[in-house]
Amino acid sequence: LAPQDLTGVCAVVSAGGTREPLDPVRFLGNRSSGRQGLAVADELAARGADVTIVAAHVEVPLGAHRVVPVGTAAELEVAVRHEAKTADVVVMAAAVADYRPAHAADAKIKKSGDAGLTLELVQNPDILAGLVADRRPGQVVVGFAAETGEGDDVVGTVLQHGRTKARRKGADLLAVNPVGVDLGFGDVPNSVVVLDGEGTEVGRGGGTKREVARILVDLVSDRLDRSSLH
Ligand code: PMT
Repeated sequence: LAPQDLTGVCAVVSAGGTREPLDPVRFLGNRSSGRQGLAVADELAARGADVTIVAAHVEVPLGAHRVVPVGTAAELEVAVRHEAKTADVVVMAAAVADYRPAHAADAKIKKSGDAGLTLELVQNPDILAGLVADRRPGQVVVGFAAETGEGDDVVGTVLQHGRTKARRKGADLLAVNPVGVDLGFGDVPNSVVVLDGEGTEVGRGGGTKREVARILVDLVSDRLDRSSLH
């Protein structure tokens, strides 16, 4: 039986991949399946937390959780911000588009001869950084960093990118996971190095997505100030 160390804790977890419409039939998306977010939600709930999943596009059933469905990064931001007002723990496991098309066409974009097509993209807000900036006292804010490595030292460069992101976003915890075509996304094992807001390593491990979730939730539990639960 899981320990009930999170009884009375209210948590919101974002999961899945956002979809930014180009026209009524096309979108810009990513490979996130929602499995890692769901695993975090399952672990939190198994330990007694009251959990809401803000779900972008997912490939898996979200079970018995309370779910707020969203499509775009903008919708995800509104929903997570709303849920965060009453949450003790916020976990951003969703893969959020950094850019969206400047204009979504009202009708299907037509092929025009043999010419290519140039899309104009604009930046989406950084939702995690906004949550950190507006964090309530005692609230624990957690992010994931999806990084690809380069050159001879793939693991080292993943971690280097992760450290930079940890310092920039300032979340209490940032789980850095290497991603690629067969890595990180989907029905695969995962591995994380968990950093604090200064980029210092506070945990690491790998295995199933549930095992990764357990590593992260243990660190969240250590950081919760039980006297200020919502
Ligand atoms: O869903 P799965 O198939 O199980 O795959 C899991 C996963 C690889 C998607 C997951 O473990 C993961 O890494 N999620 C975060 C993906 C991501 O968007 O990473 P990022 O490095 O681009 O962003 C860093 C953090 O900022 C994330 O917590 C992200 O939710 C958040 N973010 C990103 C962009 C943005 N505009 N706003 C944000 O809040």
